[in-house]
Amino acid sequence: MNDFRASFAASQIQISKSALKHNLDFIKSKIGKNSRLSSVVKGNAYGHDISVFVPLAEQFGVDHFSVFSADEAWQVKKCVSDKSDVMIMGSIPDEALGWAVENDVEITVFELERLQILLETAHKIGKKARFHLELETGMNRTGVEKKQLPLVSDILKKYPGDWQLEGLSTHYAGAESIGNYLRVKRQIKRYRSAVEEVRELGLNPKKLHTACSAAAFSYPETILDMARIGIAQYGYWPSRETYMHHYLKKPGESDPLKRVLSWTSKVMSIKEVAAGEFIGYGTSYLAGIPTRVATVPVGYSHGFSRNLSNLGRVIVGGQRTSVVGVINMNMMLIDVTEVPYVQRGDEVVIIGDQEGQTISVSSFSELSQNLNYETLVRLPSDIPRVVVE
Ligand SMILES: Cc1ncc(COP(=O)(O)O)c(C=O)c1O
Repeated sequence: MNDFRASFAASQIQISKSALKHNLDFIKSKIGKNSRLSSVVKGNAYGHDISVFVPLAEQFGVDHFSVFSADEAWQVKKCVSDKSDVMIMGSIPDEALGWAVENDVEITVFELERLQILLETAHKIGKKARFHLELETGMNRTGVEKKQLPLVSDILKKYPGDWQLEGLSTHYAGAESIGNYLRVKRQIKRYRSAVEEVRELGLNPKKLHTACSAAAFSYPETILDMARIGIAQYGYWPSRETYMHHYLKKPGESDPLKRVLSWTSKVMSIKEVAAGEFIGYGTSYLAGIPTRVATVPVGYSHGFSRNLSNLGRVIVGGQRTSVVGVINMNMMLIDVTEVPYVQRGDEVVIIGDQEGQTISVSSFSELSQNLNYETLVRLPSDIPRVVVE
């Protein structure tokens, strides 16, 4: 059914199995065998599609998945095996806590109120709540303050037998930029001191975990019992700085991360436009010479930003070609005057490679002034994902 839909679709996203395996092997070599890899699959697996990505990652040995919200956990639960654990790092409405406890979903607790409601829920259900306590170390987003830890312990004492402390976590406020070096270092120190305090209160967390991709690569001391890795497993460095940090240790070595995702469409139709005519809506593009224009059935409703009007690039016939005119809701126009052999039905690469030419997510993101992260998560979930070797 899926293949049928994919072959009908105006564009397709390919997910490369070999690239994913390669990235996971590289990440495992970086975090070491004593640290468990938690695959961060929030934002629909950074646009790769949870239902496609999670089973593939499991095939390559991943057995822990982190999501932002309860509805994402529910999506992961639908496609994951019983051997893997699922952790919610952020939003979970009180009404969803019972579902999470019943289904063994690990919950991040970052405030006393949530802890109290979670334990009441677990007590009513008669099943242990598996939770991670997030510590505030300087990001000032979510997390329990060190001075609140005795209160945490008091609440836990009221519900003996209703909980299992799976881990102690924190998140760094920008480990991908050297500009945040001192702040990150201060966070590491505060985390260690809060962990000591938790232990002094008689609590025994199963796992300590703080590292995201950038922290794991640039601050190896942040790799503890578990590392929560998102962007790197999809084949992207969190920032150029993180890549340079890695590269300078092994200059000349080719990039160890391989992009898992590519996005392609096909030429829908071709038209010759006379010199002096405007192309597309309005008057933003005037053909200065006789121009061969191809229509590609991808527009802003598919995540190709309208900001890329007269600016975007795609690859067709092995050449990078320019978007001309305004991006429409469902279509864009590209100038194929210099590639006269391009025909209706030819492959158009929006992100990815063709005959030695590449359009990377970062170049795409730079033009549309987005972060890699943002470009990926904005890829609509209804574009079919197709697994390729
Ligand atoms: C709490 C937390 N941990 C881990 C990650 C993974 O980060 P990255 O994709 O940079 O590896 C994120 C992502 O923002 C996060 O919010």
